[in-house]
Amino acid sequence: MVDFVKIRDFVENGVKKQEVMLVAAKRSHVKELADLITYLGLEPETIDIEPLALARVAALFFEPSVEKKQSYAVVDFGSASTGISVFIDNILRFTRVLPVGGQKITDVLTSCCNMTTEEAEAAKKSLDLTSEFLQLQLPGLFDKVEAIKSVVGEMVNEIRRTIDFYMTQRKDINLEKVFLTGGGAPLRGLDAMFSDGLGIPVIIMNPLEKLKLADKLRYREHELKEAGTALAVAVGLAIK
Ligand SMILES: Nc1ncnc2c1ncn2[C@@H]1O[C@H](COP(=O)(O)OP(=O)(O)OP(=O)(O)O)[C@@H](O)[C@H]1O
Ligand SMILES: [Mg+2]
Repeated sequence: MVDFVKIRDFVENGVKKQEVMLVAAKRSHVKELADLITYLGLEPETIDIEPLALARVAALFFEPSVEKKQSYAVVDFGSASTGISVFIDNILRFTRVLPVGGQKITDVLTSCCNMTTEEAEAAKKSLDLTSEFLQLQLPGLFDKVEAIKSVVGEMVNEIRRTIDFYMTQRKDINLEKVFLTGGGAPLRGLDAMFSDGLGIPVIIMNPLEKLKLADKLRYREHELKEAGTALAVAVGLAIK
């Protein structure tokens, strides 16, 4: 499946041109998702890509007083993958998916610390990556602590290399901020590791901080807000 959107008109050497974004997706993958939605009794209405859905959520975080054109990155820290997208003047300019995410931290905990997957998932929610805390939480497991930090550190480095790779072609632009989202984003200390590693201010992008919950969902407000960063793509699709 192939589709495109026009980004802008411009003139080059006296010739009128259009810049377009081309998107291609495996038809069977799109069908699988559309079938799931139909199975749930809903009707698929539109198809979109994750980076553009996330940009819509990022826009909720812009200061209304600041000029509209923004240059920023979005890091979607998922389970098996991490999406990195760079937006310049609000236009998606670069996107890459790294085949690593929060599952890698779960794997370290299960293999090194003798935890079941459920225990490791629960432990992640109380982990704090700032070193003193981490050692207190896993006493006697200094090398494991280092293993977790090195997994995260390696991811941050790879993300920095990815962003740097693109930004060397755009020396005229400074990225103003990085929005960190996805289910893995709430890991304590992760935002500090990202802002130290990337040298750019990091904002945790939890869309539920910017939305008013329907009254019928209020009884689940705490639970939803806690898992809010995992809902960023879904919210971005819903507000299209
Ligand atoms: N409070 C938390 N602290 C740290 N990690 C968390 C927390 N809550 C969930 N996670 C992790 O978030 C990950 C899931 O994130 P998300 O829902 O964004 O993934 P996904 O979109 O399903 O995966 P992918 O994008 O890789 O296909 C899991 O690795 C899970 O352990
Ligand atoms: Mg994801």
